[in-house]
Amino acid sequence: MSYRKIAPFYDLLTRIVFGGDFLQSKKQFLDKVENGDSVLIIGGGTGEILPHISKGTKISYVDSSKEMIEKAKERNHHGVQFDHCKWDEFNEEGKYDCILAFYFLDLFSDRILENILKKVDFYLKPGGILLITDFVNNRRWHAAFLGILYFFFRVTTGLKTKKLPSWEQATDDKFKLIDATYHCQRFIKACLYKSTL
Ligand SMILES: C[S@@+](CC[C@H](N)C(=O)[O-])C[C@H]1O[C@@H](n2cnc3c(N)ncnc32)[C@H](O)[C@@H]1O
Repeated sequence: MSYRKIAPFYDLLTRIVFGGDFLQSKKQFLDKVENGDSVLIIGGGTGEILPHISKGTKISYVDSSKEMIEKAKERNHHGVQFDHCKWDEFNEEGKYDCILAFYFLDLFSDRILENILKKVDFYLKPGGILLITDFVNNRRWHAAFLGILYFFFRVTTGLKTKKLPSWEQATDDKFKLIDATYHCQRFIKACLYKSTL
């Protein structure tokens, strides 16, 4: 999978398709991130969210695409440590007050998701918060739209996954759901979780 081809158009594309809801769905619970928190962003993409995170936070930013990271660096947000690697290769000391994963879990099968979340759990401090925003499949048109999205990403990035994993079930099982909101006619769900410890 490579985001090289779509990195230059990614922000424009999401704005055209989802309008302001796309950014709003990621900003939804950002007020829970406190000044001085350590924040880990997984699959951060072009870094659209960076300007909306308080300047006092220390941010680690993981993405497997060099092109997406280059776009994120253009945001010129201070205090960000960029890690160009896959999440399963990420290997840093320490744990985080807050972990953000936006439109990331949808890239994986249920089996791989299990390992991804295990690692998220490992890096989240006891009492830390986890913000997840992603697509859901609750209506007939959601399923149709997801089919188009997966086809588009298969052609442009080589994405292997063909359907949305059961990420809500998987995250609800591992973390404590505190709040959730829906966006874009309930096609997108933003969740605020806390570690269970
Ligand atoms: C759909 S984009 C979402 C980007 C951003 N979070 C957003 O909300 O706009 C998924 C991002 O995850 C990155 N990615 C894909 N697989 C990854 C992996 N195994 N580890 C880390 N990043 C990955 C891609 O390079 C891409 O930037």
